[in-house]
Amino acid sequence: MSEVDYNPFSGRDFDDPATAHKRLRESCPAHRFNGAGFQFVSLARHNDVLGALKNIETFSSLWGQGPHRKPAIALFNDPPEHTRFRRLINTSFTPRAATALEPMITTLVDELVDEMLAVPSRSGDLHDALAMPLPVIVIARMLGVPEEMRDTFKEWSDSQLQGMNGTDPAREARARRALAEYMLAEADKRRAIAREGGEMPADIISDVVAASLDDERPISDAEMLSLLTQILVGGNETTTSLITNLLWRLLGDRRLWEQLVADPTLVDVAVEESLRFDPPVLGLYRTATCPVTMSGTEIEAEEKVHVLYASANRDPEVWDHPDEFRLDRDLNRLRQHLSFGFGTHVCPGAALARTEARIALHKLLAAAPTLCMAGEPERIETFLLWGKRTFPVTW
Ligand code: HEM
Repeated sequence: MSEVDYNPFSGRDFDDPATAHKRLRESCPAHRFNGAGFQFVSLARHNDVLGALKNIETFSSLWGQGPHRKPAIALFNDPPEHTRFRRLINTSFTPRAATALEPMITTLVDELVDEMLAVPSRSGDLHDALAMPLPVIVIARMLGVPEEMRDTFKEWSDSQLQGMNGTDPAREARARRALAEYMLAEADKRRAIAREGGEMPADIISDVVAASLDDERPISDAEMLSLLTQILVGGNETTTSLITNLLWRLLGDRRLWEQLVADPTLVDVAVEESLRFDPPVLGLYRTATCPVTMSGTEIEAEEKVHVLYASANRDPEVWDHPDEFRLDRDLNRLRQHLSFGFGTHVCPGAALARTEARIALHKLLAAAPTLCMAGEPERIETFLLWGKRTFPVTW
């Protein structure tokens, strides 16, 4: 297998992952990266990505989702351990639960967008005004966290993501300690309510506490924390990125935007095509449990494997005109993209993220049809992720 130059951490491949992934698919679909303190094999073809996600015996989720080896805990596990923890959160994340949140999300989107549009200069930052606060407030409310802690929550979530990158371990450790203290105190409060036969507040922390009280084996503090942190981190920046990526493509090609203004029934397709075309999570990691050959590359036992959802989503073997953002794709076919993963670990927050993006886009089309980008947004800095950290607009 010919080696191609690929470095997801910096330069052109960091700035333009889609072009890098194309090079990999065409010339080195199972590419070994060795540098910057990491060694891993990146899988670029749809067949290999899906194959690895399905074959959980060989491609294990023990040792974490990132390029570093981390110990197994809670959802960062294989079945049967994983199943036990997944059960604890499943009731909070059914499609019905997402539907039940719609009125709250609609009111919140109205407030955030109306506040942004009230600025006399008719200009602002869509990331700061809508894409960032929306998922943070929704998750905070679902977790039962007071609104005034919103900025603190965002900082905790961001530093955990930075931690996956391995760039600022001190910041990650600080955030993890603060988050631990807060979450465990909240869980303790709910356990005390349960002991006294009282009614716990209706939120995810209560759901997890209640479910774990029914379980044969009590959930440890560390497990509780891992679970709640993953919900916090998993739901925030990803959904922010979905909203910014979606708006970036639509406003980057005025014809697409105008088409949606004229026909908002296309919103669902636009959200799904954005997920396929610009996945907020470019790829996560598995660890090989035994030697295995993928697309001609021998992967060693215990080697980290980078499963590139983003590349699978643009594989011409599976998608017609994969490098075109199109609103005429079939919605059911489109939903087969791998941006929420597949199988055992498939994202439980998918319905919620879609709901937030759909409601946000409907509101912007109706309230700000003249919306324009006012400069190129900046990319977020985590190499595993794809989204914007600024989004200047005028209207
Ligand atoms: C557009 C937004 C989102 C994207 C692109 C996304 C992406 C993903 C992906 C790719 C996985 C699979 C991980 C793996 O295969 O190892 C995942 C898992 C997960 N996501 Fe999401 N996610 C999003 C939103 C959310 C939201 C809103 C929540 C919660 C509020 C959430 C919570 C989780 C959790 C807890 C897991 C772990 C599931 C498990 O290991 O069983 N995500 N997500």
